[in-house]
Amino acid sequence: MNAQKIADDIYRIAVNIEDRDYRFEGIWPLPNGISINAYLIRDEKNVLIDLTQDIMDFPRDFSAQLGDASLSVEDIDIVVVNHMEPDHTGWLREFCARNSKAVIYCSEKAVPLLAAFMGIGAGRIVVVTDGMTLSLGRHELQFFSTPNIHWPETIMTWERTRGILFSGDAFGSYGSVPADVMSDGRITAERRRFYLDEARRYYANIVATFSASVLKGIEKIARLDIRIICPSHGIVWQERPGEIVEEYRRLAGYGSGPGEREVTLVWGSMYGNTEKAVGTITDALRARGIPVRVFHVPADDVSYILASAWRSNGLIFCMPTYDYQMFPPMAHVIDELLRKRMRNKKVFRCGSYGWVGGAQKDFLAMTEKSGWEICGSYEWKGAMTGQDHGTLRRLVGEFADRVIA
Ligand code: FEO
Repeated sequence: MNAQKIADDIYRIAVNIEDRDYRFEGIWPLPNGISINAYLIRDEKNVLIDLTQDIMDFPRDFSAQLGDASLSVEDIDIVVVNHMEPDHTGWLREFCARNSKAVIYCSEKAVPLLAAFMGIGAGRIVVVTDGMTLSLGRHELQFFSTPNIHWPETIMTWERTRGILFSGDAFGSYGSVPADVMSDGRITAERRRFYLDEARRYYANIVATFSASVLKGIEKIARLDIRIICPSHGIVWQERPGEIVEEYRRLAGYGSGPGEREVTLVWGSMYGNTEKAVGTITDALRARGIPVRVFHVPADDVSYILASAWRSNGLIFCMPTYDYQMFPPMAHVIDELLRKRMRNKKVFRCGSYGWVGGAQKDFLAMTEKSGWEICGSYEWKGAMTGQDHGTLRRLVGEFADRVIA
């Protein structure tokens, strides 16, 4: 990858994780990769905003990109740590060993984390406060405290001269960014939809838990005349920066308000007796004009189920009893949804049982404090009869009416 010029003396220095076996945060699949973006400002003081992860050949690639801007590691005067998480700072320990003059600018909450993760002491650190400014010569930076997007120490850096917001994880997405792409001004409408879709999955996987903080952060930057958004993952939003801000505002709003009038249906089945319900459920929803996205566990990764469920007003869980409890892969999915503080959902559950039930009791116990409105359930012993199909169709129809109410 080469350094990519965003504006005079401002560059994107980025790498892509493209190993299909690599899981982001050790959990989330990356079939389309992900970019890790840092930014360089050349001025009387040379500044890096964030760094890179110390994996693969990223440090070498990063150093080569500094060379594209006629700089080396030793020429950097300041590293602004917008976000401490090691995908952005993993190389900082070695970087500081090679460059003894560079000073780290970060929030107060980042200080103990820098010590714990990187062994960097307070002597190399300048703590920034909310609204503090820093003149570099031709550019002036301002720092904004935006905690919990995505860790408690996160800040955003505002380049006032050009109207560029270096936003950290906020407004980021999954998806590698090819060398000839970089910004939304250089992509097709299809590719724009791709990055927006990957932003939704990224949001649900990484940021959703902190949605209240996302809304506060968006309010904080609302008064800025933002011309370019430079996130730490994904493309630079240069042509329509407001688009990704509005998408994040919408996604964060699902954390405290209703989702879209649609249903996410998640099903799992041992011998096909619960699977038989899937067609009946989707027919009943579509008969009422309600969009439904269907996921099969354990085949479908929870990463995608989270992204769909986060946006849906209605959730249907269709799974059998297993060892007197819920089908285990479904219990895992529900646990993940609850860990992301997914609330304000209308929910229906159904499934088959054998010699005795138990899944429904387990389901109700697990979701007791979820904030979900459990709108109904239906169970059958063994294989579904025609009467079971009829009853389920009626109950799902009633549920559908509540989803769109
Ligand atoms: Fe991209 Fe929260 O780190």
